[in-house]
Amino acid sequence: MMWYAPSFVLGASGHAHLKVQGLSAGYGAFLVLRDLTLEIKPGLTVILGPNGAGKTTLLKALSGLIPRGGEVLLNGQALPVKTSEIVQRGMALVAEGRQLFPQMTVTENLELGGWLVGKAERTRRLEQAFTDFPKLRERAQQLAGTMSGGEQQMVAVARAMMSAPRLLMLDEPSLGLAPRMVDELLAITRRIADSGTTVLMVEQNVKKALAVADRGYVLERGTLVASGPAALLARSTVIREAYLGAAPAPVSSTSNSTPSSPVRA
Ligand SMILES: Nc1ncnc2c1ncn2[C@@H]1O[C@H](COP(=O)(O)OP(=O)(O)OP(=O)(O)O)[C@@H](O)[C@H]1O
Ligand SMILES: [Mg+2]
Repeated sequence: MMWYAPSFVLGASGHAHLKVQGLSAGYGAFLVLRDLTLEIKPGLTVILGPNGAGKTTLLKALSGLIPRGGEVLLNGQALPVKTSEIVQRGMALVAEGRQLFPQMTVTENLELGGWLVGKAERTRRLEQAFTDFPKLRERAQQLAGTMSGGEQQMVAVARAMMSAPRLLMLDEPSLGLAPRMVDELLAITRRIADSGTTVLMVEQNVKKALAVADRGYVLERGTLVASGPAALLARSTVIREAYLGAAPAPVSSTSNSTPSSPVRA
């Protein structure tokens, strides 16, 4: 039995389109991201890259958790600086490591995701979350800290969806999960994207992530080294050499210069 219903009504509140121009961000004097330019279109975008590349830093900068330079436009409007205002514009982050409240129940954790709306609306969204994630309804009163890693990740995603986001950002949602749970989680992110919430996901499962994503960016040492449609990235030599440990596929020698191919920076 699948854990989720076929549609996500939560979050279907309009497509977010993010334009990032010349973004820089870091920690104190340590600049991690330099002059990053990318576009998060409606659908599912995946950010790939080795450890320390700056993937988490990018999500933190877009969430207002660390200061940023450059221009970020959400549907044509400048993104606010403060996290609370960014959340109010419809951007939600599922951070690495889930960050649930372990001593609170599943229901209580979910309710926190709807803190911006009134009680009646929050109750409605909670009901919707239980429809979207039926397994969580069975576990409504269980303490979050006693759930399995995969279950906790479901709670974290459901909690983020409680804010009915236009843009859902996920930092390595499948980290530490068994292959079947990874598949379920990626299927859920695909469904969320299909029902109208733009998804920006950082993933280490390169092959699986590119299989569900529409587009991808590859980050290395704070700069972009490749971008393009997921299907093309999956076949690109940059990705294969760096992450899949496979010999490059025998693609035609001109494929890297055609406009629809992944762009190598
Ligand atoms: N709070 C911090 N203070 C100082 N440096 C930091 C901090 N957080 C991250 N960094 C540094 O910033 C760089 C990018 O880190 P980041 O966490 O964005 O990488 P990542 O791509 O998410 O890596 P991973 O795949 O391991 O999660 C690294 O060199 C890291 O050591
Ligand atoms: Mg990270």
